Amino acid sequence: MAAQNYLSFRDLAPARTVELVADALAAKRKGRDGGLPLRGRSLALLFLKPSTRTRVSFEAGMAQLGGASVVLTPDATQLARGESVADTARAIGSMCDAVAIRASEHGILEDFAAHSPAPVINALTVLEHPCQVLADVMTFIELRGDIAGRKVAWIGDCNNVCRSWMLAAGAFGFTLAISCPPAYRDEDVGDYATLPGVAWEDEPAAAAADAACIVTDVWHSMGDDEQSKERRLRDFAPYAVTAELMAKARPDAVFMHCLPAHRGEEVAAEVIDGEQSVVWTEAENRMHAQKALLLELMGASR
Ligand code: CP
Repeated sequence: MAAQNYLSFRDLAPARTVELVADALAAKRKGRDGGLPLRGRSLALLFLKPSTRTRVSFEAGMAQLGGASVVLTPDATQLARGESVADTARAIGSMCDAVAIRASEHGILEDFAAHSPAPVINALTVLEHPCQVLADVMTFIELRGDIAGRKVAWIGDCNNVCRSWMLAAGAFGFTLAISCPPAYRDEDVGDYATLPGVAWEDEPAAAAADAACIVTDVWHSMGDDEQSKERRLRDFAPYAVTAELMAKARPDAVFMHCLPAHRGEEVAAEVIDGEQSVVWTEAENRMHAQKALLLELMGASR
């Protein structure tokens, strides 16, 4: 039987995703795991790009569940000397129980998954960042209750995190109002643009109006070419999340950002460091959400 991969937010059925987030929240509320359900299991972490939160959350989560992590950086594997992704996948996937990969190209993960006996997890590619959005939705539910029927506003670049949010809208039954410069909207979102629950607004203020959550991300992501940086910063300037924009949302709205952030670019310091910001709960919840995902993919339970 083929391994159950998690390359996209769509790789788990919506009902299972909702259950997984509920499991993660229940486990967080209960406290530390006593049973060590992943004792004897191992997770390979193949990170071809830098990471703080994703790598630490997977390693800490595996340790809390009784398992072990094997961290592989680009220059530490034979990939650096030309071994194919397929052969690397066959070898690593025969020894580890899951493999989390961060790479620019989504195709590397698809290639790896096609040859790995063990499940492959998307730890960020240019297409999606599904683990981030599991944690984001969990954070909203933890702090504000049910997300179904609510309005979430994505302001800024329609990037990998935004695409996973687009898929989450249909799974959890909320509206995702996106405000992004039109030129970047067409360039970046492809067939995600018409997913259920996704709405488009030209003006950031219209997207933010009555929203229960405002989310943004950097305007120049890892992998974007450096020559386009100045143009992007200029084009995205009207899409900054400021205190004025937050005031358009519901009074109890939360602010989210996957981090790392650029204060003074996509978000004002007074917003990300202010009372409505939940970015540190969001960061911690990476670990709780991924623990639930690891149990799911490894066929274990608490
Ligand atoms: N949000 C996120 O993926 O953070 P890192 O790049 O630090 O892993």
